[in-house]
Parts: sequence; C-alpha cells; structure tokens
Amino acid sequence: MTVDAMTRLPLLLSLLFLYLGTANEVNCYEEKRVLSLQTFQWKQQSGAPSCLSRKSRSENGVTILEMKHRDYCSGKIIDWNKKLQKRLILDDFHVQALQSRRKTKASAGVAEVSEAQIPLTSGIALETLNYIVTIELGGRNMPVIVDTGSDLTWVQCQPCKSCYNQKEPLFDSSTSPTYQSVFCNSSACETLHFASWNSGNCGSNQPTCNYVVNYGDGSYTRGELASEHLSLGTAAMNNFLFGCGRNNKGLFGGTSGLMGLGRSDLSVISQSSALFGGVFSYCLPSTDAGASGSLVMGGDSSVFRNSTPISYTKMVPNSQLSNFYFLNLTGISIGGVDVQAPNFGEDGILLDSGTVITRLAPSVYKAVKAEFLKQFSGFPPAPAFSILDTCFNLSGYEEVNIPNIKLQFEGNADLNVDVTGIFYFVKTDASQVCLALASLSYEDEIGIIGNYQQKNQRVIYDTKQSTLGFAGETCGST
Ligand SMILES: *[C@@H]1O[C@H](CO)[C@@H](O)[C@H](O)[C@H]1NC(C)=O
Ligand SMILES: *[C@@H]1O[C@H](CO)[C@@H](O)[C@H](O)[C@H]1NC(C)=O
Ligand SMILES: *[C@@H]1O[C@H](CO)[C@@H](O)[C@H](O)[C@H]1NC(C)=O
Repeated sequence: MTVDAMTRLPLLLSLLFLYLGTANEVNCYEEKRVLSLQTFQWKQQSGAPSCLSRKSRSENGVTILEMKHRDYCSGKIIDWNKKLQKRLILDDFHVQALQSRRKTKASAGVAEVSEAQIPLTSGIALETLNYIVTIELGGRNMPVIVDTGSDLTWVQCQPCKSCYNQKEPLFDSSTSPTYQSVFCNSSACETLHFASWNSGNCGSNQPTCNYVVNYGDGSYTRGELASEHLSLGTAAMNNFLFGCGRNNKGLFGGTSGLMGLGRSDLSVISQSSALFGGVFSYCLPSTDAGASGSLVMGGDSSVFRNSTPISYTKMVPNSQLSNFYFLNLTGISIGGVDVQAPNFGEDGILLDSGTVITRLAPSVYKAVKAEFLKQFSGFPPAPAFSILDTCFNLSGYEEVNIPNIKLQFEGNADLNVDVTGIFYFVKTDASQVCLALASLSYEDEIGIIGNYQQKNQRVIYDTKQSTLGFAGETCGST
C-alpha cells in the first residue's frame, strides 16, 4: 500500500461507515428482496407448442418481435434437474471457447484477419443461445435463434447438401423471385471478409460468394451469401444480405437458422439502420416462468413497459472481439454495500446474450462472494456445482430475503439484477441453490455479463450513439 493510500484509508472507512449508517436507516428494506421459493414453477408447456410466432407488431416506427425461450417452444418434455445442470456445464464450455478465441485472435494479429483463408471460429457454443424470434425471409416465416455475438444472419437452404432437422419447411432459393446470389467480386462479398468469424471466398467454378461460420461447439453453417426480401413485423427491406446455408450441422433446436445482432456491417442491425436507426432492445423473460420476451427494433422508448427509468452507459471498444458489445463495469453493490476490489474498470466487460452466468475477475468475485455471504448468513450450505461455488440448501424455506445485486457502469448507469437472476437453482426442490455468479480462472480473462442477470430488464443497444441502456421491466407485457 502506498503512503498516499494509507492516509486516505481512514477517510474512506469513515465515508463507508456513514454510508452504511444512512443505508440502514433509510433504504434498508430496498436493499433486500423477497424470493419466494414457491413461485419457481418448473412447468411443462401446455397446448401445441411452436417456436414460430405471429405476434409481431409495429408501433411508432418500431417493430416488436415476440421472443420465445427454446425450452418452452420445442415441445420436448423436460427433465428440469438434468436441464438446469447441463446448462451450467455447457455455459462453461461456451465461455472457455470464447476466451480461447480471443487468445487465438490476439496471437494471429489484427492484420491477418482480413485475408484469412482458414475459416475463423466463433466463440459461441450454440446450446446456450436460447431465444428465438420469427422473421419473414422471401415471404416465408422462419423461427431463428437470436445472437448478439455474431453478425451473419443465415437460414438452411434448399437444395441442401446436409441439413439438421428443422420444424418449418426449408427455404427454397429457386422458388423465390426476390432471391439473388451475391457475386464473389462484389463489395458485399468483401463485407463478409471483414466481418470477423466469417471468411468469404469464391466458389471453384461459380462466381458465388461462399461463407463458412464455425461455432465453438463444433456446429457450423456453410453456403453462399445472397440477398433477399426481409420483413420484421410490418417493416420490410429489400436486398438483405444473408447466408443461404447448404451444409449445416449443430444444435440449433429445430429452428431455421440464426439472426446476427453483432456490431459489424453485415449484422441485421447495421443493414436495417435506415429503418430502425441502428437501435434495438430486448427483454429476456425469466426462464422459469415460461413467459415470452420481446426484441424491439428501433429506438422509440414509448413502447417499452419499463418500471424504472432507463440509465445509459457508453460502449467501450475491444480490439480483440470487435463485433461484441463491451461496457465499463465500475462497481458492484451487494445489499447497498459497495464491494471493494482493485480491478473494476480496467478492461471492458462483455455484455452477452449467449452466456448464461456472469463471469467476474477472481479478485472481484472473491469480494462479491464475501459480502454476499456476510449478508446472506445462517442458511444451510450446499455443495458447489460446476462453475457455481456459493450454494445453499433452501428446501426448508418458503421464502428468503436476499440482498440486492447492483452492477454499476461508467456514467452512473445501473443494472439492478432482478430477483430471479440472483440465485441459480441446480435442483428444482431448492436443496441446491447457488449464487448465480462465477469466477473467471485468471484476472486477465474477459469478464462477461450473462443473460441470467439480464432477465426482466429492458436492455437497449444504440449502435449509432455507442450507448447501452438498462431499465427494469417485467417481460411479457410489451
Ligand atoms: C463480377 O462477376 C460477374 C460474373 O462473373 C460479372 O458479370 C461482373 O461483370 C463482375 N463485376 C465486376 C465489378 O467485376
Ligand atoms: C472506466 O471508467 C473509469 C472511471 O470513469 C475509467 O477510469 C476507466 O479508464 C474506464 N475504463 C475503460 C476500459 O474505459
Ligand atoms: C436440505 O434441507 C432439508 C430441510 O432442512 C433436509 O431435510 C434435507 O435433507 C437437506 N438436503 C440435503 C441434500 O442436505
């Protein structure tokens, strides 16, 4: 500790004391929330489920797409205990792939990326991508997985060399009058080269622009870049660039493909910026309740049903993962107490819709865990599971008071984690319930804000202003 820091320490301590004093008197009950252990219902869906949605609508120049959770529309009978445990293990793979992708890219150097002949690998393991919206491409409705971590939108295409099973009929490029192949020598094909993770190249005997996307779990899509008429709700655009996938393999949950919401020119956000101004937002529903969420294209906030004001922070650039969204996490408070850790704000933290559990630097996680245990004390412990190591046996309780968790970002923006995003149920009977935050292995790995902590929030991405907004919202009401 430096001399300077030592002289400041008493002041800091007294400020902290003062703050705790006022927090206790004034805000006490706001710093804890009641989690009813009975409200978590592990329902099987009723009726004939479908991932296809016809509930999109447009209002004030924005389009609202219903977003479904994969677990609730696939029609499969779910063994919840198995599902909940497998999800954590997959999440670990997902994050490992992401970290190693960053390392590969760092060692390859930025200059080589644009001329890569070897297909670049996406860090995404698809099974953690859980949210599905319906788009209309070439006049056909198709359910696709939503991903903020990639750019190219693609669907399986007929004639298909190898396609995984999907629920809806395959897109047939030969019967669509608005379908057009993209030439290899076009600027659109160039775009593909520059959008990381996709390498465009020319077919051996055709002038088509071929693409390959490899995902972190061995899934892939290969095919040609094409343009087509795209409708999102009642908003429509011509010449939307997408991948017509003729050789696809992976865990895409019976959907027709994927919609890329990343930052490059190829993403649907960039391509539709004339319609929606480069702004989109989502509300991810609590997975346990089976409610729908929404993906809103466009920035008119009057359509949101947020219950708290929107607070904005700026996006920070990351040279290694340039098509991801990064923020500056400057602090975390637990039950109103600011956690002290040296490494806040040094590097950006990745905001990801495809990672489940938030990952923090080891020093930050350690401090968060200690403060949480201090405030949530007296409950019987339970064993750690996978990446989660702060676990309790709450099966003897009907409800518990849990400390609020608030993530703070540069510019006084806050993400108040919803009560459903604080604990992860490893077992449905609440005999193994864990703090839904995890530690990275090393201080220099990339921190990630996962989708579990984004539930019941309106999360607004303004790619033009490079800002990101958060507000509390109970999803399903939009
Ligand atoms: C690109 O290739 C197509 C087909 O081979 C050709 O007709 C077109 O003139 C070429 N365009 C340019 C800009 O070179
Ligand atoms: C995050 O914000 C803090 C405080 O404003 C600043 O000192 C730090 O440099 C920022 N970090 C990044 C990565 O922008
Ligand atoms: C969890 O707590 C309940 C009630 O206190 C107890 O009956 C049960 O045996 C505990 N389960 C485990 C796995 O420890």
